[in-house]
Amino acid sequence: MAYTVLVTGGCGFIGANFVRFLLTERPNWRVVNIDKLTYAGNQANLADMADNPAYTFVHGDICDQNLINELFDRHKVQAVVHFAAESHVDRSITGPDAFIHTNINGTFVLLEAARAHWPAKDQAAVCRFLHVSTDEVYGSLGPTGYFTEETPYDPRSPYSASKASSDHLVRAYFHTYGLPVLLTNCSNNYGPYQFPEKLIPLVLNNAQHGKPLPIYGDGQNVRDWLYVVDHCEAITKVLESGQVGESYNIGGHNEKKNLEIVELLCDLLDKKIAPLPSGAARRSLITFVRDRAGHDRRYAIDAGKIERELGWRPRFTFEQGMEQTVEWYLANRDWMDGVLDGSYQSYYESMYGSRGAVQADKE
Ligand code: NAD
Ligand code: DAU
Repeated sequence: MAYTVLVTGGCGFIGANFVRFLLTERPNWRVVNIDKLTYAGNQANLADMADNPAYTFVHGDICDQNLINELFDRHKVQAVVHFAAESHVDRSITGPDAFIHTNINGTFVLLEAARAHWPAKDQAAVCRFLHVSTDEVYGSLGPTGYFTEETPYDPRSPYSASKASSDHLVRAYFHTYGLPVLLTNCSNNYGPYQFPEKLIPLVLNNAQHGKPLPIYGDGQNVRDWLYVVDHCEAITKVLESGQVGESYNIGGHNEKKNLEIVELLCDLLDKKIAPLPSGAARRSLITFVRDRAGHDRRYAIDAGKIERELGWRPRFTFEQGMEQTVEWYLANRDWMDGVLDGSYQSYYESMYGSRGAVQADKE
């Protein structure tokens, strides 16, 4: 029987890249994707996979215990790769409720379903619950040092606090119930299908249209960037070979100041597309704006454990990843336009009928 993986949040940025990665790289597996299609969920992200017989899409909420139990029963779920979350720090500052609800309660619902459906020891040999988490749970670094798996948790935004909470629940289910869990804590991803509220797609879009490029504070905050396909490969490694109960940090060894990233994107666009009507370089669009409340200064990941124990390393250099990313956004203008004008939200209706339907299960 094919190995069946329940992916949550598979219509989001990383989830969609991961579903495509699994269906391509593990053609004998079955993937069931449950996604609520919040503003961040976009079915167009997986349009090319919609007819794959190994793929099933379910429109639903991870907080719905009955639905999740039913999916475990119906699909004989053997692994969960849990991406579904509210993911944007700025939104967590203006409206934390949804972050608490989905990120904490939703994770609890999934853990309960796994606990109820994977009771026997022989199941534990194959079943895996992988929680996709973030480096932000470790807090903020000064100018030196790295986050390791031993760094104490110190979340500082409602988003990172909700992710830290869910990490603790996942660990508690390992220690208390023996649930076969794995955790990954990854740095900032970039690549195709990222929602244009996040720095890189936002800047790419604004810079193409000659709009201001907002930089929070002094632009000297540091993030550690990883190409999304490398993240997908790392998650697959952890799922297949990671030691149950363990956390694995994932990062690209690509520390960059925000201002450096934005300047690089401006320069790449100046080379690749027509100049601004004014003739000015796109760097002239950079606009310093009020800082994000509680803005973490620096993140940097020590990814030594996953490299030593599982042999994972990023395959893409920062230059390759950025080049591919810029090319992708330039070649997929329709995708960006659909997101910006809101028409992506009617994609579901055109494929499956009413957006209000709970499921669009092919079986
Ligand atoms: P995203 O916001 O692009 O996608 C989130 C997806 O989850 C969307 O498709 C949304 O519809 C779905 N979703 C939200 N609430 C749901 C609910 N209640 N039920 C079902 N589906 C729901 O997020 P992303 O950037 O792809 O991040 C995915 C995961 O990876 C998150 O857990 C995030 O914390 C983690 N992460 C992200 C990064 C990053 O750089 N983006 C880095 C490390 C970890
Ligand atoms: O580190 C992993 C995290 O990376 C993930 O857990 C989050 O889900 C993901 O959203 C991301 O969080 P960040 O807050 O680091 O990403 P964002 O793209 O929002 O911002 C990147 C940096 O750029 C951050 O220091 C804030 C800054 N920024 C962001 C925006 C949107 C700006 O200066 N201007 C902007 O307009």
